[in-house]
Order: sequence, then structure tokens, then C-alpha cells
Amino acid sequence: MTESAAWLDMDPGIDDAWALVVAATGLPIVGVSAVAGNVGVRRTAQNAREVLNLLDRGSVRVYPGADRPLIYAPLTAESFHGDSGLGPWTPEAPEVPGDAVPVWSHWAGLPPTGPGSAETPMDLIATGPLTNLALGYLTLADFGRHWSSVTVMCGALPGVRAEKHDEFNVYVDPHAADVVFQRGHNVRVVGINVAHKALLPLSDVDRLSDDYGRIGRFLAAALRFYGERSRGEGGDPNAFPVDDVVAVAAVMAPSLFEWAEMPLTVVREGPMRGALLITPKDEDRPLVNIATEIDADGFRDFIWERMKTYHG
Ligand code: RIB
Ligand code: CA
Repeated sequence: MTESAAWLDMDPGIDDAWALVVAATGLPIVGVSAVAGNVGVRRTAQNAREVLNLLDRGSVRVYPGADRPLIYAPLTAESFHGDSGLGPWTPEAPEVPGDAVPVWSHWAGLPPTGPGSAETPMDLIATGPLTNLALGYLTLADFGRHWSSVTVMCGALPGVRAEKHDEFNVYVDPHAADVVFQRGHNVRVVGINVAHKALLPLSDVDRLSDDYGRIGRFLAAALRFYGERSRGEGGDPNAFPVDDVVAVAAVMAPSLFEWAEMPLTVVREGPMRGALLITPKDEDRPLVNIATEIDADGFRDFIWERMKTYHG
């Protein structure tokens, strides 16, 4: 399991929230940036703050990011995540102050030295629409040098008939995803082609009891809500996908996955909006590592092994 420092860019969102909880068991999280996605950016930032407070990680700063995609109007997913973004859970954390459309070097506080500096880059994990990352690549000449790896939950392996054709993160902001594939280096893509193979049985939610303390109580309430609304997404009516936790597993336990390297572009318009394609030969793009397979049993064992951190 990698021990490098990490930065999370996310749109909590219930599966983002669990991804943050799991990441906190082994990745020294330097910061979290929020993006508009499942709910508006004010709420995604507040929800990230809430989860970090529940984890007693008050020292990890949260930065509100882009409040809308680069080009398209915002799309949200309250039907899966509830109006608050955390299902029935009402955050006690205050709203996070700060600009809604940032430039990384100001609001992200990317340090000139130490973890996250160009000299000691860290892992970037993105589990929402990729608007913040695209803004970084488009506005900061050395943005890519801050990251030893960029892992994104986005899209589906080209050519694979994914149950959900247009994955939410890439559909919301296909232009941003295309910028990341064009400008990013050492980018890893975890798509719903693997996330929807690594389903969690609904009965697993019952494991989250008071034994896991207040984070257990939070996750039990939020995941029961999310599981009931996303059950069947991966083809099993008694199980549900936790897409963003899969992206964190790709950083903490990459051996659970098989990977293929290919240059990627994104369909930005029309009926195929959000589809990932192999870049045409006449375009020069860096190779992207995209997950092709996952050890689903190993992934489920990974989650509960990491959750032991919180078990009383
Ligand atoms: O399509 C799944 C993705 O969209 C996940 O990141 C989920 O949180 C939503 O943002
Ligand atoms: Ca998400």
C-alpha cells in the first residue's frame, strides 16, 4: 500500500464520503478540494469538512472549488445523495468560506516545499467532476509537477458496454476530463466498468454499528440511504456500487486491479457525451492507465480491513 501524501478532490456525496474515510486510514491527506457535482459546491465543501471533523482531522483544510463545469450548466444527483449530499445526515460543520472559482496556487495552498510541492509531489485522487483539475492544468504552468500520480473516478473503459453508459463525473464535465487526459501525466482512470463489478452487498451496511464510533453511525445512516437508491446499478438488486472507494483502493492497493495503457479523449457533445475513446492516431496525448479488471472479493476485504482502524 502506498504511503505517499495525498490530496483529494471530490464532490461529497456519500460514496465520496466513504472514500475519504477509507483514504484517511492510510494516506496522509494534505488537503481536500471540493467541486460542484453530486450537490452544489457549498454543500460538497461543507460535507468534506463534516467528514474530516467526524474523523478528528480538523487540521486538514478544505477548499471550495469550481461551482459549475467548464462549459455546461451544472447537473446534480440529489436523487442518490439527498439534498444535503449526505443522505439523512445533517452536517454540524459550518459552511466553508472562500472563493468558489479558485486558482490552485491561491486556494489550494500548494506549498513551495514539503508534500505537494514540485520537489515532493503527492498522489491526487479525484472522485467528482474534473473541473478543478482542468482549471489547474489550464491556469498553472507547473500544476502537473505537484502530483506523483493522478487517479480519477471517471467514465468507462473504451468499448466496454458499461451498465451506465454515461458515468456522472465525466458526463457533467466532459471538457474538463478531456483536459486532464490531454495535459495530465501518470493519470490512472477507474471507471464504472470495474466499479460496477466490485459491488457491496446491502447487508454489509449492517456491519457499520456503534462499534465503529460516530463515523460508523454516520456511514450506517448515509450508506443505507445511498444503498437503497443505487442498488442494482451494477446488476445485482441486493448490492450497490461504491465507485469512489474503488478509486481510493486503486491508490492504496493497486494490485487489486489490472490495467491497460492507452491515450484517451472524451466525447464532449451529442448523444455519446461522456464516452471515453482511444485518441485518434493523429493526436499526440500521454498514455493513461485505465483499470480493466478488479479483484472484487479482494476489494471488499480491503474495505473492511481498512475500516478496522475505526473499530472500537
Ligand atoms: O458515476 C459515479 C460518480 O458520480 C461518483 O463519483 C459519484 O459520487 C458521483 O459523483
Ligand atoms: Ca463523487
